[in-house]
Amino acid sequence: MIMIFLAKNQLNSRIVLFRTGSSRCGIRTRIFTSTVDTSAILTLSAHHQTATALSQRRKMPKVLVACEESQAVTIELRKLGIEAYSCDILPCSGGHPEWHLQQDIIPLLDEKWDMVLAFPPCTDLAVSGAKWFKDKQSDGRQQKSIEFFLRFTRLSSPWAIENPIGIMSTIYRKPDQIIQPWQYGHGETKKTCLWLHDLPRLIPTEIVEGREQRVWKMPPHPERAKMRSKTFLGIAKAMALQWGLLLKEAK
Ligand SMILES: C[S@@+](CC[C@H](N)C(=O)[O-])C[C@H]1O[C@@H](n2cnc3c(N)ncnc32)[C@H](O)[C@@H]1O
Repeated sequence: MIMIFLAKNQLNSRIVLFRTGSSRCGIRTRIFTSTVDTSAILTLSAHHQTATALSQRRKMPKVLVACEESQAVTIELRKLGIEAYSCDILPCSGGHPEWHLQQDIIPLLDEKWDMVLAFPPCTDLAVSGAKWFKDKQSDGRQQKSIEFFLRFTRLSSPWAIENPIGIMSTIYRKPDQIIQPWQYGHGETKKTCLWLHDLPRLIPTEIVEGREQRVWKMPPHPERAKMRSKTFLGIAKAMALQWGLLLKEAK
Protein backbone atom coordinates (compact mmCIF):
# COMPACT_ATOMS: atom_id res chain seq x y z
CA MET A 1 0.00 0.00 0.00
CA ILE A 2 1.23 3.52 -0.80
CA MET A 3 0.18 6.49 1.27
CA ILE A 4 0.80 10.08 0.24
CA PHE A 5 1.10 12.85 2.79
CA LEU A 6 1.26 16.54 2.16
CA ALA A 7 3.65 18.48 4.32
CA LYS A 8 3.94 22.26 4.15
CA ASN A 9 6.68 24.61 5.14
CA GLN A 10 6.82 28.41 5.09
CA LEU A 11 8.01 28.65 1.47
CA ASN A 12 6.38 25.89 -0.49
CA SER A 13 4.61 22.56 -0.33
CA ARG A 14 6.31 19.25 -0.73
CA ILE A 15 5.07 15.73 -1.01
CA VAL A 16 6.37 13.00 1.22
CA LEU A 17 5.75 9.43 0.15
CA PHE A 18 5.53 6.54 2.53
CA ARG A 19 5.18 2.94 1.57
CA THR A 20 3.97 0.36 4.01
CA GLY A 21 3.93 -3.37 3.72
CA SER A 22 4.03 -6.30 6.02
CA SER A 23 6.94 -8.58 6.66
CA ARG A 24 7.35 -11.61 8.83
CA CYS A 25 8.58 -9.61 11.76
CA GLY A 26 6.10 -6.81 11.53
CA ILE A 27 4.97 -3.88 9.48
CA ARG A 28 7.62 -2.12 7.45
CA THR A 29 7.59 1.45 6.31
CA ARG A 30 9.96 3.08 3.86
CA ILE A 31 10.35 6.79 3.22
CA PHE A 32 11.07 7.43 -0.47
CA THR A 33 11.31 11.19 -0.42
CA SER A 34 11.91 13.11 2.71
CA THR A 35 13.32 16.38 1.52
CA VAL A 36 11.16 18.23 4.01
CA ASP A 37 12.91 19.26 7.20
CA THR A 38 10.79 17.72 9.95
CA SER A 39 11.02 20.88 12.03
CA ALA A 40 9.38 22.77 9.16
CA ILE A 41 6.44 20.43 8.84
CA LEU A 42 3.35 22.23 10.02
CA THR A 43 0.53 19.92 9.11
CA LEU A 44 0.71 16.23 9.43
CA SER A 45 -2.12 13.78 9.62
CA ALA A 46 -2.57 11.14 12.26
CA HIS A 47 -1.56 8.63 9.61
CA HIS A 48 1.71 10.41 9.18
CA GLN A 49 2.49 10.06 12.85
CA THR A 50 1.76 6.36 12.65
CA ALA A 51 3.95 6.02 9.59
CA THR A 52 6.79 7.85 11.30
CA ALA A 53 6.56 5.55 14.28
CA LEU A 54 6.64 2.57 11.97
CA SER A 55 9.63 3.88 10.08
CA GLN A 56 11.52 4.23 13.36
CA ARG A 57 10.49 0.71 14.18
CA ARG A 58 11.98 -0.56 10.94
CA LYS A 59 15.38 0.78 11.86
CA MET A 60 15.24 -0.77 15.29
CA PRO A 61 17.02 -4.11 15.50
CA LYS A 62 15.06 -6.97 17.05
CA VAL A 63 16.94 -8.90 19.69
CA LEU A 64 15.99 -12.03 21.59
CA VAL A 65 17.56 -12.53 25.00
CA ALA A 66 17.01 -16.23 25.54
CA CYS A 67 16.64 -17.82 28.96
CA GLU A 68 16.61 -14.52 30.79
CA GLU A 69 14.15 -14.05 33.63
CA SER A 70 16.05 -11.12 35.21
CA GLN A 71 15.74 -9.01 32.02
CA ALA A 72 19.17 -7.55 32.85
CA VAL A 73 20.39 -7.46 29.24
CA THR A 74 16.93 -6.77 27.80
CA ILE A 75 16.55 -3.63 29.89
CA GLU A 76 20.00 -2.33 28.91
CA LEU A 77 19.24 -2.95 25.22
CA ARG A 78 15.89 -1.17 25.53
CA LYS A 79 17.67 1.85 27.06
CA LEU A 80 19.54 2.09 23.75
CA GLY A 81 16.35 2.03 21.71
CA ILE A 82 16.67 -1.59 20.67
CA GLU A 83 13.57 -3.76 20.42
CA ALA A 84 14.71 -6.46 22.81
CA TYR A 85 12.65 -9.27 24.31
CA SER A 86 13.55 -11.55 27.18
CA CYS A 87 12.29 -15.12 27.06
CA ASP A 88 12.11 -17.58 29.92
CA ILE A 89 9.74 -20.28 31.10
CA LEU A 90 9.67 -18.34 34.39
CA PRO A 91 7.90 -15.02 34.87
CA CYS A 92 10.27 -12.07 34.62
CA SER A 93 11.70 -10.43 37.72
CA GLY A 94 12.94 -7.34 35.87
CA GLY A 95 9.63 -5.47 36.09
CA HIS A 96 8.85 -5.33 32.36
CA PRO A 97 6.37 -8.08 31.50
CA GLU A 98 5.56 -6.18 28.28
CA TRP A 99 9.03 -7.13 26.99
CA HIS A 100 8.90 -10.68 28.33
CA LEU A 101 7.92 -13.82 26.45
CA GLN A 102 7.14 -16.40 29.08
CA GLN A 103 7.37 -19.61 27.11
CA ASP A 104 9.69 -22.27 25.76
CA ILE A 105 12.41 -20.56 23.72
CA ILE A 106 12.69 -23.20 20.98
CA PRO A 107 9.75 -22.15 18.72
CA LEU A 108 10.94 -18.52 18.89
CA LEU A 109 14.25 -19.48 17.33
CA ASP A 110 12.48 -20.11 14.01
CA GLU A 111 11.53 -16.43 13.83
CA LYS A 112 13.68 -13.68 12.36
CA TRP A 113 15.93 -11.98 14.94
CA ASP A 114 18.80 -9.59 14.30
CA MET A 115 20.71 -11.01 17.26
CA VAL A 116 20.17 -13.72 19.87
CA LEU A 117 21.90 -13.63 23.27
CA ALA A 118 21.43 -16.92 25.11
CA PHE A 119 21.90 -17.90 28.75
CA PRO A 120 20.96 -21.60 28.65
CA PRO A 121 20.73 -23.63 31.88
CA CYS A 122 24.12 -24.91 33.02
CA THR A 123 23.03 -27.34 35.77
CA ASP A 124 23.78 -30.45 33.68
CA LEU A 125 26.80 -29.00 31.88
CA ALA A 126 28.94 -27.06 34.39
CA VAL A 127 32.00 -28.71 35.93
CA SER A 128 30.75 -27.59 39.34
CA GLY A 129 28.07 -30.28 39.05
CA ALA A 130 30.42 -33.04 37.84
CA LYS A 131 29.65 -35.35 40.76
CA TRP A 132 26.10 -35.79 39.40
CA PHE A 133 27.16 -36.31 35.76
CA LYS A 134 26.86 -40.11 35.90
CA ASP A 135 23.21 -39.96 36.90
CA LYS A 136 22.50 -37.19 34.42
CA GLN A 137 24.15 -39.16 31.61
CA SER A 138 22.26 -42.33 32.34
CA ASP A 139 18.84 -40.70 32.54
CA GLY A 140 19.39 -38.51 29.45
CA ARG A 141 19.26 -35.14 31.25
CA GLN A 142 22.76 -34.15 30.17
CA GLN A 143 22.15 -35.02 26.53
CA LYS A 144 18.95 -32.96 26.58
CA SER A 145 20.86 -29.94 27.92
CA ILE A 146 23.60 -30.42 25.32
CA GLU A 147 21.03 -30.42 22.52
CA PHE A 148 19.33 -27.36 23.99
CA PHE A 149 22.66 -25.48 24.05
CA LEU A 150 23.55 -26.60 20.51
CA ARG A 151 20.25 -25.33 19.11
CA PHE A 152 21.53 -21.76 19.55
CA THR A 153 24.73 -22.53 17.63
CA ARG A 154 22.68 -23.30 14.50
CA LEU A 155 21.26 -19.78 14.23
CA SER A 156 22.39 -17.76 11.24
CA SER A 157 22.02 -14.31 12.87
CA PRO A 158 24.76 -13.00 15.18
CA TRP A 159 24.57 -14.81 18.52
CA ALA A 160 26.32 -15.20 21.83
CA ILE A 161 25.93 -18.07 24.28
CA GLU A 162 26.89 -17.67 27.92
CA ASN A 163 27.68 -20.56 30.26
CA PRO A 164 30.10 -21.35 33.10
CA ILE A 165 33.14 -23.60 32.58
CA GLY A 166 31.77 -26.98 31.61
CA ILE A 167 31.59 -29.81 29.14
CA MET A 168 30.50 -27.68 26.15
CA SER A 169 34.13 -26.56 25.72
CA THR A 170 34.93 -30.10 24.59
CA ILE A 171 31.58 -31.27 23.23
CA TYR A 172 31.07 -28.17 21.09
CA ARG A 173 34.25 -26.09 20.99
CA LYS A 174 36.40 -23.89 23.18
CA PRO A 175 34.67 -20.61 24.08
CA ASP A 176 35.76 -17.49 22.25
CA GLN A 177 36.49 -15.83 25.56
CA ILE A 178 36.19 -16.25 29.30
CA ILE A 179 35.09 -13.19 31.20
CA GLN A 180 34.94 -12.35 34.91
CA PRO A 181 32.60 -10.02 36.84
CA TRP A 182 35.68 -8.13 38.19
CA GLN A 183 36.39 -6.97 34.63
CA TYR A 184 32.97 -5.27 34.54
CA GLY A 185 32.82 -3.42 37.86
CA HIS A 186 31.90 -6.24 40.30
CA GLY A 187 34.59 -7.32 42.78
CA GLU A 188 33.80 -11.00 42.33
CA THR A 189 35.05 -14.08 40.55
CA LYS A 190 32.83 -16.25 38.37
CA LYS A 191 34.48 -17.54 35.21
CA THR A 192 31.95 -17.14 32.44
CA CYS A 193 32.44 -18.55 28.95
CA LEU A 194 31.17 -16.80 25.84
CA TRP A 195 30.77 -18.52 22.49
CA LEU A 196 30.31 -15.96 19.75
CA HIS A 197 29.08 -15.91 16.17
CA ASP A 198 29.49 -12.73 14.13
CA LEU A 199 30.08 -10.70 17.28
CA PRO A 200 33.34 -9.27 18.63
CA ARG A 201 34.79 -10.30 21.96
CA LEU A 202 33.48 -8.29 24.86
CA ILE A 203 35.93 -5.64 26.05
CA PRO A 204 36.33 -5.22 29.84
CA THR A 205 34.70 -1.98 30.93
CA GLU A 206 35.86 -1.52 34.54
CA ILE A 207 38.51 -3.69 36.14
CA VAL A 208 38.09 -3.60 39.93
CA GLU A 209 40.14 -4.97 42.83
CA GLY A 210 37.81 -7.39 44.65
CA ARG A 211 38.07 -11.14 43.99
CA GLU A 212 35.31 -12.53 46.20
CA GLN A 213 33.39 -15.70 45.40
CA ARG A 214 30.14 -14.28 46.69
CA VAL A 215 27.90 -16.25 44.36
CA TRP A 216 29.01 -19.58 45.82
CA LYS A 217 28.84 -18.34 49.39
CA MET A 218 25.17 -17.44 49.21
CA PRO A 219 23.24 -19.06 52.11
CA PRO A 220 20.66 -21.76 51.32
CA HIS A 221 17.52 -20.13 50.02
CA PRO A 222 14.68 -21.33 47.78
CA GLU A 223 15.71 -18.69 45.21
CA ARG A 224 19.48 -19.35 45.54
CA ALA A 225 19.95 -20.95 42.11
CA LYS A 226 17.99 -18.18 40.44
CA MET A 227 19.92 -15.45 42.27
CA ARG A 228 23.24 -17.09 41.41
CA SER A 229 22.46 -17.24 37.72
CA LYS A 230 21.36 -13.63 37.24
CA THR A 231 23.57 -11.73 34.83
CA PHE A 232 25.79 -9.13 36.52
CA LEU A 233 24.65 -5.61 35.70
CA GLY A 234 28.12 -4.54 34.48
CA ILE A 235 28.22 -7.48 32.06
CA ALA A 236 24.66 -6.79 30.89
CA LYS A 237 25.57 -3.16 30.20
CA ALA A 238 28.72 -4.17 28.31
CA MET A 239 26.80 -6.65 26.14
CA ALA A 240 24.15 -4.07 25.33
CA LEU A 241 26.56 -1.25 24.59
CA GLN A 242 29.15 -3.23 22.66
CA TRP A 243 26.92 -5.61 20.72
CA GLY A 244 23.64 -3.74 20.70
CA LEU A 245 25.08 -0.51 19.37
CA LEU A 246 27.12 -2.38 16.77
CA LEU A 247 23.91 -3.93 15.51
CA LYS A 248 22.11 -0.62 15.56
CA GLU A 249 24.81 1.01 13.45
CA ALA A 250 24.74 -1.87 10.98
CA LYS A 251 20.97 -1.42 10.41
C1 LIG B 1 21.28 -20.11 33.87
S1 LIG B 1 19.70 -19.36 33.97
C2 LIG B 1 20.04 -17.82 33.18
C3 LIG B 1 19.48 -16.64 33.92
C4 LIG B 1 19.85 -15.32 33.29
N1 LIG B 1 21.29 -15.11 33.34
C5 LIG B 1 19.12 -14.16 33.92
O1 LIG B 1 19.79 -13.17 34.31
O2 LIG B 1 17.90 -14.22 34.01
C6 LIG B 1 18.82 -20.28 32.77
C7 LIG B 1 17.38 -19.86 32.57
O3 LIG B 1 16.84 -20.62 31.50
C8 LIG B 1 15.46 -20.78 31.73
N2 LIG B 1 14.98 -21.87 30.84
C9 LIG B 1 15.17 -23.19 30.98
N3 LIG B 1 14.61 -23.87 29.95
C10 LIG B 1 14.04 -22.95 29.15
C11 LIG B 1 13.29 -23.03 27.93
N4 LIG B 1 13.03 -24.20 27.34
N5 LIG B 1 12.85 -21.88 27.37
C12 LIG B 1 13.09 -20.69 27.97
N6 LIG B 1 13.80 -20.56 29.11
C13 LIG B 1 14.26 -21.67 29.70
C14 LIG B 1 15.40 -21.06 33.22
O4 LIG B 1 14.11 -20.84 33.74
C15 LIG B 1 16.46 -20.09 33.75
O5 LIG B 1 15.90 -18.87 34.15
